Amino acid sequence: MIDQKPIPIPRHRTAMVRHTLSQPMSLAVRHGIVRRGMTVFDYGCGQGDDLRALASAGVEAAGWDPHFAPEASRNEAQIVNLGFVLNVIEDPAERVVALKAAWALATRMLVVSVMIVGAVPVDGLRQFGDGYLTARGTFQKYFQQAELKAMLTQTTGIEPVALAPGIFALFRSPEDEQDFLLERRRGRRASTSAYRTDRPARVSSAKPQLVDRIADAIDAIARFALQHGRLPHPDEMPSDVHDLLTTERVSFARALEISQDASINEELFGRAASERREDLLVHQALNILNRSRSASRPSPAMVRDIRHHFGSQQQFAEQALEYLHGLADAQRTAAAMRRAADNGFGAIDEDGRLVIDSARVVDLEGLLRCYVGCAVYLSGEIGQEHIVRLDPLHRRTTLFPLTDKRQPFPETVSSITIDLKRQDVIIREDPRVLVRKADVFGMALRSRQRSIEAQRRVANGGEEAKVLVRI
Ligand SMILES: C[S@@+](CC[C@H](N)C(=O)[O-])C[C@H]1O[C@@H](n2cnc3c(N)ncnc32)[C@H](O)[C@@H]1O
Repeated sequence: MIDQKPIPIPRHRTAMVRHTLSQPMSLAVRHGIVRRGMTVFDYGCGQGDDLRALASAGVEAAGWDPHFAPEASRNEAQIVNLGFVLNVIEDPAERVVALKAAWALATRMLVVSVMIVGAVPVDGLRQFGDGYLTARGTFQKYFQQAELKAMLTQTTGIEPVALAPGIFALFRSPEDEQDFLLERRRGRRASTSAYRTDRPARVSSAKPQLVDRIADAIDAIARFALQHGRLPHPDEMPSDVHDLLTTERVSFARALEISQDASINEELFGRAASERREDLLVHQALNILNRSRSASRPSPAMVRDIRHHFGSQQQFAEQALEYLHGLADAQRTAAAMRRAADNGFGAIDEDGRLVIDSARVVDLEGLLRCYVGCAVYLSGEIGQEHIVRLDPLHRRTTLFPLTDKRQPFPETVSSITIDLKRQDVIIREDPRVLVRKADVFGMALRSRQRSIEAQRRVANGGEEAKVLVRI
């Protein structure tokens, strides 16, 4: 029976002491959404630990909470965090009021996080409204991913972007959203430091002292070039680069020449260009698939990338469509999965699914990255080492977070299945499944793993251990 009694509910008791940043704020930092010099407002800040952590890193952070900081003013900020607030409010209408108020304060984006179905067992909890009453008398509503997404869209009129299960971002400007999506799809390659070559790589026609004097400008130009696969326009460099060049009486064109001579390795530059092309195609294909509202509003830098790498917007659109047709082609997908397995990026299981270490996803062909990208669009990133299983036949992608990949025998802790047909995310706290590193990671551990499996079999009274990939 549904019990509607104890009111008022002591909501503030849900606020815990945090010793590290909360998951939504740490995700925002990892994605570069929150950076030094930006302003953050924490709506429903609880005990304020996120605020202290952000401030210690040079982020201007303020917050308000009806219990812990009721006198604080509710100010606008570039980024507003509504962290695990909606799920503690028992009245659905009040959730909408809180969401609207938080959105109204966000000048660039709002990050919303809630508890999600499957995250915590609810056995034995008393039902209350559309959620549960906990043993401490607090209320918890566990959202479905699709349900939260629908609520955010209806309330703000903006289609949110999933950052992780239960965590969405709402961007004010389509340009910001496009930049964010492209950079996220670039995955680990977002870091340009791996592409940097030691300076000076080739003989420069400039005096050595000049190279040293404008070293910061050269670094900034090289970083840009190796990220975009093209040289920057003057307005794409920050003002301190121009100030330095003015002081040293070096024109921007000359600085580009010097950078090319001194710091941009041609081979890496060529590779950066082809990676940017593929990243843009994957990005655009996913924009089309997901009917992204911001797709028609790329940032100026992205417009220049497109013109540089594809000639025109039309040619770019045509090539992205061509890319999408590949996704619907089962034979092409199967062949791409087979190539991935042959290249040692993962294994094909007995049901023809590709099982791969998440760290290797960035190395997959664009077609398969589109598959994973569709899943990430719905679920967001899970921010933990995991295995990815692609099942194009059933249009499902499953993510398996791992205990610890460094262990000889990592185990899965749960499974997050993204059903691309139903456009929903299903989380299961599965019984632990042993991961055969030999199969998934291409390591020579098979015999030891087999003996562990044998031990498990004995412990299970002769029953086979559950193994993620059996070939
Ligand atoms: C689970 S805590 C989360 C606190 C903090 N955001 C964090 O992530 O640590 C939920 C907080 O929401 C606050 N809260 C309750 N009703 C609220 C409302 N209508 N608007 C804003 N915050 C509310 C509570 O006082 C509580 O501090």
